[in-house]
Amino acid sequence: MPYTFKGSEALFQRAKRSIAAGVNSGIRKMEQPVPLYFARGAGARVWDVDGNEYIDFQLGQGALLYGHAPAGMADAIATQARLGTHWAAQCELEIEVAERLQAMIPSAELVRFNNSATEVVSAAFRLARAHTGRRLILKFEGHYHGWSDEGLVGFAPPADTWADEENLPRLHPSKGVIPEVLQQFVVCRWNDAAHLRRQVDAHRGKIAAIIFEPVLCNTCCIEPAAGFMAVIRELCDRDGMLMISDETITGFRFGAGCAQGYFGFKPDLTVLGKAIGGGTPFAALAGTSAAMAKILSGEVVHAGTLNANPLCLAASKWCLDQVRSLGATHPANIETLGRSLMRGLSDLAGKHSIPLRPQGPGLVFHTVMLKPGTAEGAVRDYRDYVRRHDAARWAHLRRCLLEEGVRAIERGLWSVSLAHTQRDIDDALTRAARAFARHAATWSAPA
Ligand SMILES: Cc1ncc(COP(=O)(O)O)c(C=O)c1O
Repeated sequence: MPYTFKGSEALFQRAKRSIAAGVNSGIRKMEQPVPLYFARGAGARVWDVDGNEYIDFQLGQGALLYGHAPAGMADAIATQARLGTHWAAQCELEIEVAERLQAMIPSAELVRFNNSATEVVSAAFRLARAHTGRRLILKFEGHYHGWSDEGLVGFAPPADTWADEENLPRLHPSKGVIPEVLQQFVVCRWNDAAHLRRQVDAHRGKIAAIIFEPVLCNTCCIEPAAGFMAVIRELCDRDGMLMISDETITGFRFGAGCAQGYFGFKPDLTVLGKAIGGGTPFAALAGTSAAMAKILSGEVVHAGTLNANPLCLAASKWCLDQVRSLGATHPANIETLGRSLMRGLSDLAGKHSIPLRPQGPGLVFHTVMLKPGTAEGAVRDYRDYVRRHDAARWAHLRRCLLEEGVRAIERGLWSVSLAHTQRDIDDALTRAARAFARHAATWSAPA
């Protein structure tokens, strides 16, 4: 029997009376039929308040690389909690975590800690502007860099703003942002080296930094085209801009060296979030000594009461040790599992004539649902995705999957954790078979 969600529905109605709109992050309202309330998790599985068990590929928006509630991490946090939960001062743990990052990521010559990647992105922009004495940040359409005024510019411009293919719109999805913020950005097309070169030349001498998600995970799951990272590096070196790799999703998921190790490039600054804390509120700015110079000199302010919180540090130390101890088997193992899941989903789609096309490197992937009549082939960039992805049909299939106990991120992103096994993948595909059959029998395109 498909799952029902009466307990979550009752809690959501109650929440709406005390929590604005019932949720604490706007995106959580997207979950259909209702934002779920969870009771507990273990490894690759999580249980909601209705007792429904899910094989989890949402993984706390990708943060739970080590699965739910790993015992070692729980012990590390508990041990630290008994010694102290917060000092707003120094402790040896922060050096231990920093030294691990140095050992794992060649570009991480120095680090600073924060509580969210949104904060780290703000710090990176400030540092880049101070470093270069320039104002503009170049980013790519569809890339997400947190929810701040600056992080969201150019994230999801609506199709009716796309008329100019050369000067891409600098829009913000939120009200309440002053227009001057938008003018601090240049927006480029992902994986289009010629467009990038033209825009850098057009603003030569004014751009402080180029920021990107090395794999565009927040719009579909689009890997960098061959040579694209090298073009960004070349332009940054040529014009004295800082290269900022936002590895909030890819960090440690793509191995100890993150996506920069996986694809072989060296940024000046790196944003780390999610898996660095395994689900605790922890994030880091890592960079070369040269790029961090203005923090060293004290000219750039970087602060925060809860920075380097000992509970988060204890969790992070445990997480980083897990990744390091796996050596070359990570990310190879989860890549194999992810690819096996992608293949299984493709086979089911074929069996039921559902135009679902999993795309990505397996460690993380997106289930593109092709709109009727659109072309086959990998999605290349944000506009290509909006033109071809059938969000309404995907939402219907996602709900069928949820009702059978398979949970992907609402917009179609799937992540595999170190706790998943081939048995979990097989179990997920057995459940998915029922979901695909029900979707095929009940989906009808809106008139
Ligand atoms: C690539 C990227 N950068 C930054 C952020 C912001 O991270 P946080 O939610 O920890 O502030 C996210 C969050 O999903 C992200 O995916």
